[in-house]
Amino acid sequence: MTAQTLAGARLLLIIGGGVAAYKSLDLIRRLRERGSAVNVAMSAAAQRFVTPLSAEALSGRPVRTDLFAPTEHSGMGHIEYSRDADLLVVAPATADLLARMAHGLADDLATTTLLATDKRTLVAPAMNVRMWLHPATQRNVASLRGDGVLFVGPDDGEMACGEFGPGRMAEPLAIVAAVERALQSPTLLPPPPGAGPLAGRRVVVTSGPTYEPIDPVRFLGNRSSGKQGHAIAAAARAAGAETILVSGPTALADPPGVKVVKIETARAMRDATIAALPADVFVAAAAVADWRVADASAEKIKKGSGGAPALELAENPDILAEVAARRGDRPTLVIGFAAETQALIDNARAKLERKGCDLIVANSVAAGEGTFGGADNQVTIVTADGIEEWPRMSKEEVARALVMLAARKLAGST
Ligand code: PMT
Repeated sequence: MTAQTLAGARLLLIIGGGVAAYKSLDLIRRLRERGSAVNVAMSAAAQRFVTPLSAEALSGRPVRTDLFAPTEHSGMGHIEYSRDADLLVVAPATADLLARMAHGLADDLATTTLLATDKRTLVAPAMNVRMWLHPATQRNVASLRGDGVLFVGPDDGEMACGEFGPGRMAEPLAIVAAVERALQSPTLLPPPPGAGPLAGRRVVVTSGPTYEPIDPVRFLGNRSSGKQGHAIAAAARAAGAETILVSGPTALADPPGVKVVKIETARAMRDATIAALPADVFVAAAAVADWRVADASAEKIKKGSGGAPALELAENPDILAEVAARRGDRPTLVIGFAAETQALIDNARAKLERKGCDLIVANSVAAGEGTFGGADNQVTIVTADGIEEWPRMSKEEVARALVMLAARKLAGST
């Protein structure tokens, strides 16, 4: 894990062709103010929006614009150019650039540099709201996230095209903060098949909510989006593990390379999880309903004159406790989550003991935290040995750090 600060960091900024390119000039200034050295590469389209001369004046370095221009090399080919950097930042990243990155194309300076790197890449998308929300773009984003690419933004707001919604590039200071976080997070590029810190291991992850039927129309559910659990499955797969994701209903794409078992109820999640064993690691990130309606109606309950129906609840199986208590095929490492609105650490410690797991990831789901459905999470790792508070990070970064911790624990080094 290479922890680094902005002071002294070597960054490669790739400016894509979008209106937001003008904000990237400010980004260069903000990064340099904080002591980073910023090399800049510009796509052909970017030069329609801002000039290489402006970027050169602000970065204090020659700007690269052409893959083949020998005069631009300044002693460095594009491979060295990307390898020399601690972090690559793509801002703005257009829908086209994201698509070409997701498919591993290398037909110009930007894409060739991005493919040639073995360093982390942080992307700040900027595009029209419909382009951002288009399933093709969302597929590309999911695939890049699975590859370990980090994202900042896009923000909601009024766009240059006059429409409103998500698609505006994050503000330069938000990108600076994301660069700082990215420099501090572990470097973990997806390993080739059969390689990586979890190569040869099997990981089972639960994710998302469960839906407990009241009748064929209605159900009891919760606010989990599955983002945290899916990110953990993607990170485990990226670390080389054979990964099975048992997921409740979510709107998320399946993480690449992960076997996904889709269920609705807690009891179905329990059965699918037990069927997925044996495993080296089990991570229970799902928000499983503790109760179900004892006698769900086979027909839609009609609104009658008798007032609201009384629902009798029955307790659901506790999947985490059951996996942790298994004999013969208990995973070496059983990791639970604790979602609390108060007394986070005390409740997490109590859960660690009561459910018999090895590690609890405690996160607050109090109103205003934005943990359910949000992009970020702030977690505290609770074990019998003590607690470790992690900084607020994206859910992908939490997932990668958790997977690295699991790998170290399996290897017996923590
Ligand atoms: O999905 P997101 O929108 O990204 O949000 C992420 C999250 C908040 C859902 C996630 O980070 C999280 O905290 N997941 C656990 C939610 C939860 O149900 O916590 P809990 O404290 O109620 O349960 C404790 C643990 O027991 C959890 O690991 C849970 O998966 C497990 N459990 C609970 C009940 C049950 N019947 N079976 C279980 O396995």
